[in-house]
Amino acid sequence: MKKLIQEHRKRFGEFEVVDFVDPGEIERLRRQTDVDVPLDLHWTWEYGSEVAELRNLYEKGKVNQWNAETDLDWSIPVTKDEWIVDPQVSMLAQVCKLMGRDEATQKAAAFDEVNHLLSQLLHGEQAALQLCGQLTNACPKMDEKWYAASQVTDEARHIEALAKFLQRKMGTIYPINPTLKILLDELLQADTVQTKTLGMQCLFEGMAVGIFDLLRRETKNPLLGEMIRRVEQDEARHAAFGVLVMRRVVREAAPEEKARMEEWAFSVLEALNANQQLDMLRLIGPKYGIDPENVTRMALSMPNFAEFNSLAYMHTVIPNLRGLGLLTERTRDQYLKLGMLLEGSRAAQVN
Ligand SMILES: [Fe+2]
Ligand SMILES: [Fe+2]
Repeated sequence: MKKLIQEHRKRFGEFEVVDFVDPGEIERLRRQTDVDVPLDLHWTWEYGSEVAELRNLYEKGKVNQWNAETDLDWSIPVTKDEWIVDPQVSMLAQVCKLMGRDEATQKAAAFDEVNHLLSQLLHGEQAALQLCGQLTNACPKMDEKWYAASQVTDEARHIEALAKFLQRKMGTIYPINPTLKILLDELLQADTVQTKTLGMQCLFEGMAVGIFDLLRRETKNPLLGEMIRRVEQDEARHAAFGVLVMRRVVREAAPEEKARMEEWAFSVLEALNANQQLDMLRLIGPKYGIDPENVTRMALSMPNFAEFNSLAYMHTVIPNLRGLGLLTERTRDQYLKLGMLLEGSRAAQVN
């Protein structure tokens, strides 16, 4: 199976990580803001509804619109003096504690880690905005175009909310991680509507829902919690669109085409997982005297590694891939081996 980001692989024991260490190369990746995208545009003259489920999703989106400026209470303070999340879920806070650093330092480290995570989610939101713009053009049916256009509005609102939160409340927007930039470009450059939908709507929207949900449950800050709750409601619709479209695609696909989709989905998620938290640790670790390699090796060797590593994957992406028939014996053992899959997951759910 083809591995992505092959040139940045190295072994940490049994595990193969993706690790970017050259600041010049990372900077070059970030400066690549023009991306060539193959895109077919389709007109349609059918203005009635052809796909009832998609029309329902579009209607749902209309009644659940919200205003990032007026529906959130921006007067709520966000400060490093309070725990922004439960300390148990902050890797940096945990490591600082192990190193004997005081509680104020642990709180500051958790704050920086959340700041970095929200920044990556923000860049992901921008990719979702761009990709849905593409889908509006490329999808053949009017119901799909309406839905995709409504998601464009949702993603613009998510960018607005996250950017305002980061600028007003946290003070920093961290630049995009090199691993994330390469993978998002891979989705944006995908050459068919099916691959774009699978990549963005199923894999990245699903991951975003999983991460947002963890963050909402663990945050101690009411403004952050409420912002995420609202974003998550929209994201559940987006992931549902991915499943609805892909269900039809998979049903009609030849076995070899289905196998190709399953392998491609695995390769994207595998590369994401292979970075572990190295991009974040290389950026923020030094501020707290943390060695990125040591911490990653330690995390990988923990007996309950798969338990916490699989949380974001098991939330939505893995159950949805299973439901679609895109996680079979072909890839199952590898997901398991890499700590991305735990058996006994809940079934795929489409709202
Ligand atoms: Fe979004
Ligand atoms: Fe989304």
